[in-house]
Amino acid sequence: MDVKHAVLDVNDLLIRKIKKKKELSSLDDEIISKYIHQCYAIYPKLERSLREKNIRTVAKSREFNDVVKFARKSLREVYGVFIMDGFEKKSVEMSDQELLLLHRSTKERWNHYAYFYQEIFTSMKDDMTGKKLKVVDLACGLNIASHNVLEKAVPGPIEYVEIEVAKDDVRFIDEYMKDRDLRGKAIALDLTKEEFEKIPLHKGKDEFLVCFLFKLIDTFEATKRHTSKKLIAYLSKFADAIIITFPMKTIGGRKEIEENKRWWLEGFLTANNMKFTKLEIGDEMVFVVRCS
Ligand SMILES: C[S@@+](CC[C@H](N)C(=O)[O-])C[C@H]1O[C@@H](n2cnc3c(N)ncnc32)[C@H](O)[C@@H]1O
Repeated sequence: MDVKHAVLDVNDLLIRKIKKKKELSSLDDEIISKYIHQCYAIYPKLERSLREKNIRTVAKSREFNDVVKFARKSLREVYGVFIMDGFEKKSVEMSDQELLLLHRSTKERWNHYAYFYQEIFTSMKDDMTGKKLKVVDLACGLNIASHNVLEKAVPGPIEYVEIEVAKDDVRFIDEYMKDRDLRGKAIALDLTKEEFEKIPLHKGKDEFLVCFLFKLIDTFEATKRHTSKKLIAYLSKFADAIIITFPMKTIGGRKEIEENKRWWLEGFLTANNMKFTKLEIGDEMVFVVRCS
């Protein structure tokens, strides 16, 4: 008997195949499985047909490849597209600038990070004086590598909570934080599961809590409607401020993203009596939302 196939099922084979794409190789099996099941939910016949096939030959079937294609395309949109060449070789020995260039979002920001943080924090500095800043960076990518610039833009010390979806990426962020002697921790969380109570949002009397939602909620609204609104409403119960940003150009900077794609957020914030200011920084639209 073929031992390799005897212990694997179709799901395992699909996961293995999907992970062969370099930019998806660090994703957890559980996340990949979620997209396989999303495909089955849309095309139930595919699942039935795969289950009926011989496990030894199933990987050669058209149906198998259709599921692989569907999952890879969806995962690329929410994860793979942000990974730059060399991401899998990242190490704490690299400079912060080298690391910022390995993720598309930080790469797009790297030459104006100082201005980016200064603009965001200028209006909050008075309220922060004498307090420690606690940053909760949701779907953080490699933004932690900009900590040196952030430290210069705020008056006091900083504690970081970094949240990302892939455990491998979280392990790296943790290692980076230890290497750079940063206070805080990194946590693996799939935010679309809406288990928001797992986000550490407690704050002491002498702390100012700011949540970063950088270039995230437009993707979330496209893949799971209303998750972003629920997330913002939840964070606003704990945070002093939430910083929400939108890309103003499509990936690769080819096309402008129309302003009406952001109107829903303005409507949502206004309806919930949340005060906000809008800033345009680089190719990013930034909403500074004050919560208390
Ligand atoms: C456009 S990038 C923004 C990265 C970072 N916030 C920045 O602006 O530098 C979106 C990030 O969301 C992460 N992500 C995608 N799906 C997620 C999920 N379900 N839960 C948590 N993070 C997720 C991706 O891994 C990616 O790093």
